[in-house]
This record gives sequence, structure tokens and C-alpha cells, in this order.
Amino acid sequence: MENAIHMRRKAYVHTFGCQMNEYDSARMMGLLETSGYEHAESPETADLIIVNTCSVREKAEQKVYSLLGRLKKHKIKRGTKIAVGGCVAQQLGEGIFTRAPHVDIVFGTHNIDSLPDLLREAEDGKRSVSGLEMFEIPSTFSGDQYLSEGRVKAYVTIMQGCDNYCTYCIVPLVRGREYSRPREDILREIRSLSKRGVREVTLLGQNVNSFGKKNGGTSFTDLLGEVCRVEGIERVRFVTSHPMDFSDELIYAFGENEKLCSHVHLPAQSGSDRVLRMMNRRYTRDHYLSIIGKLQKVRPDMSYSSDFIVGFPGEKDKDFEKTLELMREVGYDTTYSFKFSPRPGTAAEKLDGRVEESVVRRRLMELQALQKKITGVNYGKMVGKKVKVLVEGISKTDDNKYTGRTACNKIVNFDAGPDERGKIVMVTINDALAHSLTGSIENGGSRDERS
Ligand code: SAH
Ligand code: SF4
Ligand code: F3S
Repeated sequence: MENAIHMRRKAYVHTFGCQMNEYDSARMMGLLETSGYEHAESPETADLIIVNTCSVREKAEQKVYSLLGRLKKHKIKRGTKIAVGGCVAQQLGEGIFTRAPHVDIVFGTHNIDSLPDLLREAEDGKRSVSGLEMFEIPSTFSGDQYLSEGRVKAYVTIMQGCDNYCTYCIVPLVRGREYSRPREDILREIRSLSKRGVREVTLLGQNVNSFGKKNGGTSFTDLLGEVCRVEGIERVRFVTSHPMDFSDELIYAFGENEKLCSHVHLPAQSGSDRVLRMMNRRYTRDHYLSIIGKLQKVRPDMSYSSDFIVGFPGEKDKDFEKTLELMREVGYDTTYSFKFSPRPGTAAEKLDGRVEESVVRRRLMELQALQKKITGVNYGKMVGKKVKVLVEGISKTDDNKYTGRTACNKIVNFDAGPDERGKIVMVTINDALAHSLTGSIENGGSRDERS
């Protein structure tokens, strides 16, 4: 018996990229557990290392190869098997073996369920590639199989793929056509998460607003309503929204449903209509601002975040000025900004008008400096306010403090009793740091159960 326990192999999953990949990694770990693996704390102790990859920008891809290079020593030392999944695997297939010959398994984004079979083959010494064809309808999956104990927040994938073809983006090429999960599967998963103590769910998809559109079923707004009604779920968020599909119905839902958190991630990419057209984003700056204006009316405390790309081919100084202007006008709490990276197979890869690297670098720095200023102002405004915080656990930086987020998605660190985890408490904000707030919990942790 003891022997059997010692025999249990260990697996380590390293995840790059977006929350979709994090969710997939959790699924992989769940499947591995049912095949007799246990979770390894580090790559050093693992018998199997899975690298879940991202190819959204060239830099992301380079990181994958440098990690694979570093992992080689584990293979030499203890014969660790190395598997590569995710978006780079989907894109390059066998090409991975050329750049990293020590890899044992390559598998795509659509066949995670076949991982146990692939592992058995690898154990027989075979090197395998599998499942790179895209399925229209992936098998039913569930992300609640692997959730560490005591978690109060969870991600739930509601759809896969993307049909938008923004000209710079590789995601539709590696994730396939858009597919919405059946509503019942999603709700079942959320009910099960709630039973395990989860109080906040974030619904995931590349363009969540178009949920259900293809099959004419439940709309995204209706799904949100149903998720909010799941017993035990106190907060609901979603990423990512596409401005083109952000309906009035969804905007008004924020006015009616308190469980919807006061934060929207609404990637603008650019503030210039000319660039937006070249990106095939299919909305204008005015349309974007009209969404923000309406949201502001139904939720005056709404906070916003966005993604921006600088140096898109043909972007002129005056286009970039428009982006800075938009950033000021919306007053985002956070933005993620990236240098344009030409991706294989995308329409923008072949566009003329590449912006010189020094110009791109300067624009990125300017954009990020402006965002830093705006973030500082927004966080500063929180000082003195009393806010509702969902207590997540002990702070990463201070063992004596608890940590959680406001509905507007700002991190707050504060003192709290151990029994407050998973509860929504009132916290008075004392101070604002660069990306977090500190506060003190109201006496006795007087709480508001609603939101
Ligand atoms: N589905 C989401 C996010 C997609 S990827 C959306 O539509 O917003 C996340 C972000 O990476 C994008 O919002 C975009 O800002 C950035 N990105 C995608 N492709 C890129 C590229 N080729 N070069 C630079 N940034 C890119
Ligand atoms: Fe890429 Fe555009 Fe789809 Fe987002 S909406 S994943 S940026 S193609
Ligand atoms: Fe990257 Fe794939 Fe997500 S390319 S951003 S991991 S969908």
C-alpha cells in the first residue's frame, strides 16, 4: 500500500497567456488527477511538466521557448516527460519538435480530454502530436474539477474561439470558431462551485457579449441574470467584452442587478477611427464613448479597464493622440498596452506602413505614463470611502493582513479575523498605493450580504 502511494507520479503545469489558458490548465490537472497523478509543487519534483502556451504576441511565444530550454535539465536529470499544449502548440504542431526536440507530447487547444491517452503513449516511449484539428463542438468540459480548497473566486469558461477576425489577432486561428457552451452546463458548474464555497465567478470568453447568438438560445444578459440567481453566488464579473456587441440590454442589467460588479473590461485598442477600421474592430470611437456614457448613468461608480495596441501599421502621430485623448476621457483604472506584433497568418501581418521601433517605444512609454497618472488619481479618490470587499484570504505581502477586492476590482489589504474569508465586509480605505488600497474593517466586520 505504502509503495502504491510512493508510486504516485507528479505533474506540474506552467501556464502562459489569458484566463482561458488558466481554465484549461485547471481542466488538465483535473484529468491528470483522475489518471493517477498528483500536483507537484515545482518542476523539480515533477515526473510530467505541461507547458500551456500563448501565441498572442511574438514575445509570448519567445517566453515559451526559453522556458522549454530551461526545462531540458529536468528531463536529463530525472527523465521528466514534457508536454506542450495551448495556442503555440495548436499553431505550430510538429514544428515544436524542431525547435525543442526534447518535447515528448504536443497537443492542441481542442483535445485536452485526450491528454491521459497521449500520456500513456509517451510512457511507451512514443513521441506524439494530437488533436490539432479544430472541432466545431468540443466535448463537454467542466472546470470545477480542480479547485484548490478555500477559494472564493473562480473562472468559468462560457464560450470558446472567436469569429471576429480583428486583423492583428491570432486567436481565431488557434482557438477556432466561436462556440458557446450549453447554458445548463455552465449553470451546473457554477452551482457546484458555489457549494464548494465560491462566492464570485468571472465568466470567460474572447467575446462574451456574443454568447448564444449563433444558436439563438439564451442571450448573454439572460445568462448573467441566471448566474446571479445561483444560490451562494454574490458577485459576477465577465471578460472580455467587445464594444461592438455590448448591447443596451446588458448596460441596463447593471442598473438592475447589484450582483454584477461595477467594473467592465472593454478593450478599445485605439482611439482613432482610422486605425479601428484598419483593425477591423467594427465600432467607432463615438460608439465606444456612448457605451461608457450609458454605463456611467446606470452605475455612477463604474470603473473601466482596457487593452491598447500601439504602432499598428499606418498609425500616425495624430492617431496616437486620439488614443491618449480617449484614455483621458474615459479615465481607466487600468490598461494593458502592447506594441503591435505581426502574427503569422493574420491580415495585419502583411500590411504596409510599419511604424519605426523607436516611435513605437516612445508611444508605448507615453501611453503607460499617462495611465500611471490616471490610476494614481483614481486610487487616490478612494481614500476615505467605505467600500464592500469580498475577503479572499491572507495577503501575499503581509501575513497579518487579509486581502480582497472591491466591486470595482481594486485590491484592498486590511486586518480581519480568520472567519471572514468568503464574506463581504465593509472596509474604510485609509491609503492608496500604486496598484492597491489599504483599509480597516468596520467594527465586528459588519457586513452586507448583498454585494
Ligand atoms: N478577445 C479579447 C482579447 C484578445 S487578446 C478582445 O477582443 O479584446 C488580448 C489583447 O492582446 C488584445 O486585446 C490586444 O490588445 C492584444 N493583442 C492581440 N493581438 C496582438 C498583436 N498581434 N499585437 C499586439 N497586441 C495584440
Ligand atoms: Fe482577437 Fe478580436 Fe477575437 Fe479579441 S475579438 S480574440 S482581439 S479577433
Ligand atoms: Fe494567448 Fe491563446 Fe489566450 S493566444 S491570449 S492563450 S487564447
